[in-house]
Amino acid sequence: MAQASYSPGLEGVIATTTSISYLDTEHEQIVLRGYDLIELARTKRYTEVAYLTLYGHLPSAAELAGFEGQLREHAELPGEVYRLLDLLPRRMHVMDAQRTVLSFLAGLEDPESLKDTSVEANLRRGVRVLAQMPAVTANAYRALRGLPRVRPDPSLGFSEGFLYMLLGSRPDPDAVRVFDLTLVCYIEHEMPNSTFAARVIASTLSDLYGAVVGAAASLKGPLHGGANEAVAHMLLDILRHGGADAAEAYVVERLRRGERIMGFGHRVYMRRYDPRALLMREFVPQLAARRPEGEELVRIHQTVERVMHREKGLYPNADYPAGLIYYLLGIPIELYTPIFLVSRTAGLVAHVVEQHAHNRLFRPRVLYEGPRGLRP
Ligand code: ACO
Repeated sequence: MAQASYSPGLEGVIATTTSISYLDTEHEQIVLRGYDLIELARTKRYTEVAYLTLYGHLPSAAELAGFEGQLREHAELPGEVYRLLDLLPRRMHVMDAQRTVLSFLAGLEDPESLKDTSVEANLRRGVRVLAQMPAVTANAYRALRGLPRVRPDPSLGFSEGFLYMLLGSRPDPDAVRVFDLTLVCYIEHEMPNSTFAARVIASTLSDLYGAVVGAAASLKGPLHGGANEAVAHMLLDILRHGGADAAEAYVVERLRRGERIMGFGHRVYMRRYDPRALLMREFVPQLAARRPEGEELVRIHQTVERVMHREKGLYPNADYPAGLIYYLLGIPIELYTPIFLVSRTAGLVAHVVEQHAHNRLFRPRVLYEGPRGLRP
């Protein structure tokens, strides 16, 4: 066995090899299949980057048309799923409903074929899951809130159709563009807790659904994807308690109490700006006028960022601007982390494919701190 050392939270530990993505902090780049993710977000749409993530190369026009056709073809949910959604407890978080449906979808597959962990089978299944995720997410929310279901509209593109189902009305092109850009930003990010969870699960040769369900459970936590919802709640809390003028005191007081300000800090970037946050921040001002309280929320957002930098030397991560962008787009807050999961599904599928293709079971050891020797 290799020399074992302990790093709390596995900080700095190399968990696996991968050819999917890499956080190149030296050059402040997120490298996805050899491309700069931020450049991709500026120039490509989500489906193009999803194709790249899954298949390793940017699609030709024909490949993209075929891929988008598959996403459209599989977007509708089996009738049983709608029946399941009607049974879910109304108090449930959308994220929990989302992973419940994913488990249910696994149950609709032939148990024998689920055991097929070949690249082809995983990609086929993965594309289907990605196609279904927008309808799963939007209709889980709708069922929990007693709203009428919305079926996927095959005449709409992936992001437009997703936003349409979330909002219940046709979104305008500016909203679709920014929403699509946030999905690209969220698509894949090397080895966050959720991706690690997915790979650990996949390493037992468990199926793709189980790996995505495990990742969803991880992503929900406020130290991870759940931060985008926490950011929106915090901004609204400050709005209700004095607005931008009160933001500085709010942050200072929270920090004095030893609390964390959500949307700041990152295990890998920690004292640097998350490139995704820098990009998304550019799009915030143009959205402010979409809600009456938008301008004030933007001022609060800017003040909190300034104070966090001054007090802690911490920069925003992707969830900080995303939480505000989704709010300004009129999306209900409880959908923010589920939206993150929809986008990240492409990255997770790529990781499950890679794990299964070069599998070795994850099985680390511990630094035992219990009693030495057996008790009598
Ligand atoms: N607010 C206040 N202090 C913070 C924050 C924060 N958001 N983040 C880190 N710190 C401080 C810690 O208190 C600690 O200070 P200390 O050394 O004085 O005790 C120091 O920075 C290091 O923090 P750790 O928790 O050890 O760093 P770790 O790498 O384990 O945590 C994490 C990273 C979980 C992201 C952390 O920065 C955090 O809690 N952030 C808020 C939650 C968040 O935004 N999560 C989203 C992550 S990005 C994503 O999922 C897309």
